Amino acid sequence: MKKQTFYVTTPIYYPNDIPHLGHAYTTIAADVIARWNKILEKEVFFLTGTDDHGKKISKAAEKAGKTPKDFTDSLIPEFKKAWTSLNIEYDRFIRTTDKDHEKIVQEIILKCHKNGDIYKGTYEGLYCTDCEGYYTEKDASDKNCPIHKRPLEKLKEETYFFKLSKYEKFLLDLYIKNPEFISPKNRKQEIINRVKEGLKDFSISRTSFNWGVPFPLDKKHFTYVWFDALINYYSATQNKKEKFWPADVHIIGKDILWFHSVYWPAMLKSAGIEIPKKVFAHGWWTVHNQKMGKSAGNAVKIDSMIKCAGVDSARYFLLRECSFGDDGDFSEAMLIERHNNELANKLGNLVSRVSTLAEKYTIEFTKSKNFDSKETIKKVTTHFENLELDKALNEIFAFIDKTNEYAQSKKPWETQDKKVIYELSNAIKDSAILLSPFIPETSDKIAKTFNFEISLKTLTSPLKVSKIKKSEILFKKIEQSSETKKEKHIDSKQKLNKSEKIEGVMTLNQIKYDDFAKLDLRVGTIKKAENIEGADKLLKLEVEIGSEKRTILAGIKKYYEKSDLIDKQIIVIVNLEPRKMKGLESQGMLLAAGNKEDDTCVLISPERKVDSGLKIS
Ligand code: MSP
Repeated sequence: MKKQTFYVTTPIYYPNDIPHLGHAYTTIAADVIARWNKILEKEVFFLTGTDDHGKKISKAAEKAGKTPKDFTDSLIPEFKKAWTSLNIEYDRFIRTTDKDHEKIVQEIILKCHKNGDIYKGTYEGLYCTDCEGYYTEKDASDKNCPIHKRPLEKLKEETYFFKLSKYEKFLLDLYIKNPEFISPKNRKQEIINRVKEGLKDFSISRTSFNWGVPFPLDKKHFTYVWFDALINYYSATQNKKEKFWPADVHIIGKDILWFHSVYWPAMLKSAGIEIPKKVFAHGWWTVHNQKMGKSAGNAVKIDSMIKCAGVDSARYFLLRECSFGDDGDFSEAMLIERHNNELANKLGNLVSRVSTLAEKYTIEFTKSKNFDSKETIKKVTTHFENLELDKALNEIFAFIDKTNEYAQSKKPWETQDKKVIYELSNAIKDSAILLSPFIPETSDKIAKTFNFEISLKTLTSPLKVSKIKKSEILFKKIEQSSETKKEKHIDSKQKLNKSEKIEGVMTLNQIKYDDFAKLDLRVGTIKKAENIEGADKLLKLEVEIGSEKRTILAGIKKYYEKSDLIDKQIIVIVNLEPRKMKGLESQGMLLAAGNKEDDTCVLISPERKVDSGLKIS
């Protein structure tokens, strides 16, 4: 039978320096997704690579006293080394200087031109070399790049434009017809709003420097780096991998969603090529809540992360620590804590204990009724389908907790019950297979200990009885230095603010009774719900409380459709001091139930409609 195909990509990174944790995050996530699809027995193509052209690279090369080609050639091994050290199983490492790619870029330009979508003109406007992106006065009122906070360059040069304006309707239709195209869904509305404001044609060639794909319509011109770069996803399939197009998912960071969800589908449509199925934008890693990156000078090195806790713990930590799609704050202390508490204590100890028993008493097959992984496998599969990678991990660890509890209640070390030892070994098999996309090295070790293969077949069939040998220690506990402990102390305080308390919403489980009694709680009715420019999570609500109207900012954007909030009754804490957020004053807080682990947030409402302003007592 023909295998189903699966094609996943990472962004192609600028090789202007060695990769850091931010690049590693996207690449590990894509690797996890690729590995899961291999378990599902699909034929997988996983593409990563580098974006070698453009002003940013040519400037960095000049600074290093090298030609752009020599400069990028010297950095590519650093990327490949980093991916090998992180156990990334990519299928092709593409560079935009690869000849097969350059040829396809030129072909696509000619196709778009033939379709009447490329014309000559003059570009006059602002440019950020760090993003390699154009900005309007409206996007950057202080003439600084909104992302890099550096002055934008004023450009005026002859250029060829791509008629993006022609594709407004096509794009809006695409987002409706294919609601998963922009994922996660909380990122979609912002793009739709911006597209609705009107699309401007964008400049796709430059004459002021020559580090790019020669523009096939005019010798004086070189292709704009983003027009060139996006095409990598398609060009990589044109070399005997045609069956993989359209891509199943492009994994990217939220900083480059506009290019992928607006420019890219319009370019493909113009060239008569099928549109990819999904673009998934994850959040940013920060360090002490500052965006991490080379320009900010706070980039976390991949090597030091691996040195601190090992490859599998680093991979595990990055995907467990924050919801895939949201921002996360990196700290070594949290990495160590998860390594010690979850990987060493929960998984490592379980494997060590059970394999020791299995070696000593052997195992005896039993069909377990009270201990089954079917439900877990089903839930994990759904989470993978939705790219909820953190939730998949939560689910697997809930199962590991259950396995530990089962061991604790049955005490096979006292009873020597070979059937219980079998049940536990079988559960370890299932956990190890489900965890293998995240921690492949460890899962392989577990598979060797219990003599099974990492495959769909073994996941869905009982463990074969065999001679088992005690496992080596999978995760050695890490001693925290007093410095990291101090850092952890700060982190856990920050964590409380960041994760447990969704901004502007107070979760019930944080309020002690004494505090609660001091609060003046009232029923309010939401009258308006609006987005706030530049805010990912917050909504601006107008809430009626008796005869009073208040503005309340609440971090519930991704949990509720604005239209569903209108006329909803909620509980408001009305005697809190007003708080400034995003330059606006929030005059109260809403009560909600939820936590970050499950990524839930449910507003608390009176059971039936009552007068607004009613006091809760
Ligand atoms: N070359 C373009 C992408 C072209 S894709 C056709 C580019 N390159 S980049 O080197 O700047 O890498 C950007 C990507 O790296 C982000 O989209 C994100 O996936 C990842 N990250 C870089 N810094 C990051 C964080 N601090 N946090 C999370 N991911 C980040 O843009």
